Amino acid sequence: MKVTVVGAGAVGASCAEYIAIKDFASEVVLLDIKEGYAEGKAMDLMQTASLNGFDTKITGSTNDYAKTANSDICVITSGIPRKPGMTREELIGINAGIVKTVSSNLIEHSPNTILIVVSNPMDTMTYLAHKATGLPKNRIIGMGGALDSARFKYRLAEALEAPISDVDGMVIGGHSDVGMVPLTRLATRNSVPVSKFISEERLNEVREATKVGGATLTKLLGTSAWYAPGAAVSSLVQAIACDQKKMFPCSVLLEGEYGLNDLCIGVPVILGKNGIEKIVELDLDEAEKAHLMKSAEGVSKTNTLI
Ligand code: 2OP
Repeated sequence: MKVTVVGAGAVGASCAEYIAIKDFASEVVLLDIKEGYAEGKAMDLMQTASLNGFDTKITGSTNDYAKTANSDICVITSGIPRKPGMTREELIGINAGIVKTVSSNLIEHSPNTILIVVSNPMDTMTYLAHKATGLPKNRIIGMGGALDSARFKYRLAEALEAPISDVDGMVIGGHSDVGMVPLTRLATRNSVPVSKFISEERLNEVREATKVGGATLTKLLGTSAWYAPGAAVSSLVQAIACDQKKMFPCSVLLEGEYGLNDLCIGVPVILGKNGIEKIVELDLDEAEKAHLMKSAEGVSKTNTLI
């Protein structure tokens, strides 16, 4: 199993590290345009192999896509991260050109690959990858909902004063500060609806904290987060690589599902060896449907900028 990660910045390097530690891939190629940067990070990560107990071989490349040839899965993290106060959508001017070029370079050397897009604004970058590559819809996946759901569970566990392992919840919709739809109605504490334990007012605080989870960290860190994004995308890679049939909310091209067409937005999908094995249509209530529609309007508006 060969995985390529484009972008050896904090998110890409964290993704490569988590993939290696989980030890399900034979090879990870880390590629960056900055001279020597990916090679250095790959070597540093390989020097943890005896300490962290993995056999995955991590190699680095400075913009040589031949080294990525025949990758089963390719992750695109390249582009600029946001600064405090910025929205993800403000990155489009620079990141769109990068994602278009990177996508085309990747499939030139790995025509059968499955692409996972992380670069922001992620839903629009995922849509751009479709336009740039023409890959079938099951082989282009945007990572946002897995990260947002992890933040949602963090906030729910905090409100419940419960271990995160007892909590389940999902965020659908656009990966944007205003477009996310945390599904509090369906969230549970060990199969019991969380509304049994938390007031609607407190649940609203959880929803709002989830939506700005990325911005909250960017304000604290001075740049975008990387540990949870890296962990989220490595979980998607593992689900595909190991044919786990795991369900995650991912940004996928909709063609009538949820009454939406011609955009990529976060909905639950089953991930396996074929990438998106199935799009799962939830029975949303009227409020949830309205939030998803409004989120889709925002994503479609951003799509007009590419
Ligand atoms: C985040 O929310 C980088 O969009 C990513 O942290």
